[in-house]
Amino acid sequence: MIVDTSGNLLARNTKLRNTYQIRSALSRSELAIVYTARLLDNREKVIVKEFFPNALALRGMDRKTVTCGASMQSKYVEFMHYFLREGQMLKELSHPGIVGYIDHFEENGTAYLVMEYCAGKTLDRMMKEEAAPTYDPTFLYHTLLPLIDAMEYIHDKGIIHRDIKPGNIMIGENGNVKLIDFGSAVHFEGKEHPIFTTAGYSPLEFYSNRSQQGPVSDIYSLAATLYYCRKGTPPPDVPGRLFADHAERIQIENAGLSLLPYVIRRGLEVQANKRCRSLRWFKAALRAEYWIKKGKRPTLTVR
Ligand SMILES: Nc1ncnc2c1ncn2[C@@H]1O[C@H](COP(=O)(O)OP(=O)(O)O)[C@@H](O)[C@H]1O
Ligand SMILES: [Mg+2]
Repeated sequence: MIVDTSGNLLARNTKLRNTYQIRSALSRSELAIVYTARLLDNREKVIVKEFFPNALALRGMDRKTVTCGASMQSKYVEFMHYFLREGQMLKELSHPGIVGYIDHFEENGTAYLVMEYCAGKTLDRMMKEEAAPTYDPTFLYHTLLPLIDAMEYIHDKGIIHRDIKPGNIMIGENGNVKLIDFGSAVHFEGKEHPIFTTAGYSPLEFYSNRSQQGPVSDIYSLAATLYYCRKGTPPPDVPGRLFADHAERIQIENAGLSLLPYVIRRGLEVQANKRCRSLRWFKAALRAEYWIKKGKRPTLTVR
């Protein structure tokens, strides 16, 4: 739960669309506030994400309405359009490894996205709070393989997530995984893509709105996530690597014949055309690590 010192958060019990009742705020970023909420009819716990761009928006005296100065109005509308696209995108998707869509709508001068509540923690909170052994082959097998399945599913639909990182991967108590935050996702056949980047996890092509982007771009972020699982920090961010790519800094020590460090390194190639292009390599490497740990003979078929 986050503490409201700004008066910008929706008050507890605020009703939206006469259907959802806000409980408490979970997280706040530059563009949105995430709350836990309940369905008024059956009390089911859900997540409500509210469009609230920090730099542009003001909360009204009624503690609901969101306004924006006239000079910023066009930016506000543009960003709200991207926000609503997250709802549109999620609505198209249905997969056990992807947060479930419930609703999206405009109200109070802003926009809301209602989603399934995923119990658990993000992968980065798990690492920070529990120092969980996230590079353990069993953990990787049970959490990242289903995540890769979810990535394959969206790629087959012509969508790239564009913000795969530990903060956008929810892990439940029983280890089940859900990919969240489709706020940067796009249909990759489009010609222009708005620039959204996350230091350490975004590939070079995300730093331009005219670049070629595709599944291989999410592969970079997946490799960066695996790197984080190993090292506890993301790889150096890509603009810095362009000028001084300290290769040794992205080295991951190779345990025996392990395929995983190799696949991670190939996934982290700065130039997309040199990068490992298929998620199948990651799946094969994770399976091999798992079976080696179990003491069984791995099958190295890339399926
Ligand atoms: N469906 C969900 N279930 C549980 N927690 C969630 C859910 N969606 C978001 N959160 C929490 O809110 C945080 C921010 O959500 P996210 O969609 O990533 O927004 P942002 O665009 O601000 O990064 C997440 O890191 C997670 O802690
Ligand atoms: Mg996020």
